[in-house]
Amino acid sequence: MIRIDTVTKRYPDGTVAVDRLTLDIPDRSITVLVGPSGCGKTTTLRMINRMVEPTEGTIRLDGVDIREQPVTTLRRSMGYVIQNAGLFQHRTVVDNIATVPRLLGWGKQKSRARAAELMERVGLDASLAKRYPYQLSGGQQQRVGVARALAADPPVLLMDEPFSAVDPVVRKGLQDELLRLQEDLGKTIVFVTHDIDEAVKLGTMVAVLRTGGRLAQYAPPAELLSAPADAFVEDFLGTDRGIRRLSFFGTGDLPLRTSPIVTLDATAEQIAAGAADAPYVLVTDSDGRPLGWGAPQELTAGRIDPARLLPHGRPFARGGESLRAALDCAVLSPTGWAVAVDEAGRAVGVVSQQAIGEAIRAAHGAHRGGAAAAADAGVAR
Ligand SMILES: Nc1ncnc2c1ncn2[C@@H]1O[C@H](COP(=O)(O)OP(=O)(O)O)[C@@H](O)[C@H]1O
Ligand SMILES: [Mg+2]
Repeated sequence: MIRIDTVTKRYPDGTVAVDRLTLDIPDRSITVLVGPSGCGKTTTLRMINRMVEPTEGTIRLDGVDIREQPVTTLRRSMGYVIQNAGLFQHRTVVDNIATVPRLLGWGKQKSRARAAELMERVGLDASLAKRYPYQLSGGQQQRVGVARALAADPPVLLMDEPFSAVDPVVRKGLQDELLRLQEDLGKTIVFVTHDIDEAVKLGTMVAVLRTGGRLAQYAPPAELLSAPADAFVEDFLGTDRGIRRLSFFGTGDLPLRTSPIVTLDATAEQIAAGAADAPYVLVTDSDGRPLGWGAPQELTAGRIDPARLLPHGRPFARGGESLRAALDCAVLSPTGWAVAVDEAGRAVGVVSQQAIGEAIRAAHGAHRGGAAAAADAGVAR
C-alpha cells in the first residue's frame, strides 16, 4: 500500500501544486488521480517515485518512508509510463523494452527473451521487435512504453496520462488491455488522467483533485457518480452521470422472457404463445442466433421469411454487460425490446424498455439502501 500523508508541494516560485494531500492507495488495484489541468496530478505521481520531493508530509510504501531507501531501489520497484511513451528513439522496440533488465545486468539473451514475452503480453506482434519507435503507430508506441515499464516486474506502475495522445478507438483498446493486464498481473497502478470517463472506467478508486492540489473526493467510481461530494465534483463528472452510473449495475437479474423467441419453422401455437407475452416475436435460426423481430400476425407459421423481419439491433450479453448496455440496446431497438444473448451469441431472452426501467429503479433503491454497487464489479462497462 502507498500511503500519502498530508503531503504538500510548493515549488520554488511559490506555486502550491499539491496541498495537504492524504490518500491511501490500495495494493493490486488501479487508483486514478483525475482533475483539470494544473491540479497537481503529475506532481503527486512524481512525488511517489521521488522525481519531485514533497515540501511537507510523508509518503510510505508498505509502511516504510520512501526516503529510507536509495532512490534507485525505489524507482526499480516502480515502472513509469508517460504520454507519448517517452521511448528511446535510437533503440529498437526490443531494446527499449529490455532497457531496465540490461541495467540490472540480466545479460543480452535473457533480457531479449523477457522483452519478447512482454511484447506478447501487451499485444504487440513479434514482427515489430526490430522496428524503431518512429516506425510504430501511437497506440503501438504506448504498448511498448507499458511493456518497458513492466520489464523488471515492479510491483507498482505509475502512469501519467499514458493514453491521452491517441485517438478514441485506440485509447479504448489500450484501456481494455490495461484492465486485462491488471487482472493477470495484479500490479498496484497509480493512473493519472484528466478524462473522467477514463477514470471511471479504469479506477477501482478515483481521487478527484481540484486546482490548487486539493483533494475534492476519493471514492469508488460508482459512489462518485451517485454521490458527488460537492458542486465541483458534480460539474466535473458531467451531465449524464445518471446514465453512466448504470454501467455499474449488472444484467444478471433482468427478468428475461423466452416465449417470444421462436425459430424460422415455428408453429402457429409457438407464435401465438410468444405474442401473448410481447408485441413482437424474436425469430432465430436453428442454432438460436437472432435474425430479427416479426409482428406475430405477419408471420407464416412453419416457414417464416427472414427477409421480412425487422432488424434486431445489437444484443447485450446477459450478466456480462451492464444495465447501461441493456438500456442502450432497448432504446436502439425498432421494437423497444432488447435481446439478451449468451457467449455463443444465441438468444437467451428478450426484455422491454419498461422492464429495464423497473430494474434500474430497483438497482438505485438497493444502492441507496446500502448495497455496494461494487458488487457488480466485473460487469463490462
Ligand atoms: N517545476 C515547477 N515549477 C513551478 N511550478 C510548477 C512546476 N511543475 C508544475 N508546476 C505547477 O504546479 C501546478 C501543478 O502542476 P502539475 O502537477 O503538472 O499538474 P497536472 O499534472 O495536474 O496538470 C501547476 O500550476 C503547474 O504550473
Ligand atoms: Mg500532468
